[in-house]
Amino acid sequence: MSLVSVNAHSHAPRLEFSRNDITILAHDAIVNAANNSLLGGGGVDGAIHRAAGPELLAECQTLGGCPTGEARITRGYSLPARFIIHTVGPIWRDGRHGEANLLASCYRNCFRLAREHNLQTIAFPAISTGIYAYPKQEAAAIALEQCELALRENRALRLVTLTCFNEDTWQAYASLTKSRAGVLI
Ligand code: APR
Repeated sequence: MSLVSVNAHSHAPRLEFSRNDITILAHDAIVNAANNSLLGGGGVDGAIHRAAGPELLAECQTLGGCPTGEARITRGYSLPARFIIHTVGPIWRDGRHGEANLLASCYRNCFRLAREHNLQTIAFPAISTGIYAYPKQEAAAIALEQCELALRENRALRLVTLTCFNEDTWQAYASLTKSRAGVLI
């Protein structure tokens, strides 16, 4: 698995892209691309629930769901990560139904919860780009922009990892980073 760190300075906050399964990461929090029920599903949602164990579902059942664009935090249970931040991305329709703003608000709300819980490291899957069919390039641009904003605004954030579970996602982030060379935090 290759790892590209956008910012080579080890002491500065880092935004990185990595090809791996998010459930193995020991970040303070990993983000789950959930659905409005928060009761599990396929994709990364299924993988996280399987790896965290049944106590996760039990806690999720107490949350009463989550509107699209918002985020909720739970413990990580059997995961190496201490917390899971569940967010519900938009289902892609045609780009004319507020999808971009909803996806941006997913990232912003995840970072808000990270700040409220004094978390220093966080990892995201490519929210909405799987079952919810959001175009990968557009989604990657939104992710990159919100991560850069968060790293500037929250000095306690040390590491933001964007995990790629497939080559297309990797290429989307890699191409954007190359084309935005110098936009380092
Ligand atoms: N680790 C990291 N990324 C993963 C993993 C994993 N173990 N499994 C899947 N992914 C990636 C997918 O390849 C995709 O790039 O997560 C990204 C998001 O895809 P989905 O999991 O399909 O999520 P999303 O597109 O946001 O759709 C959400 O899917 O699982 C259901 O309950 C969920 O209804 C909700 C919908």
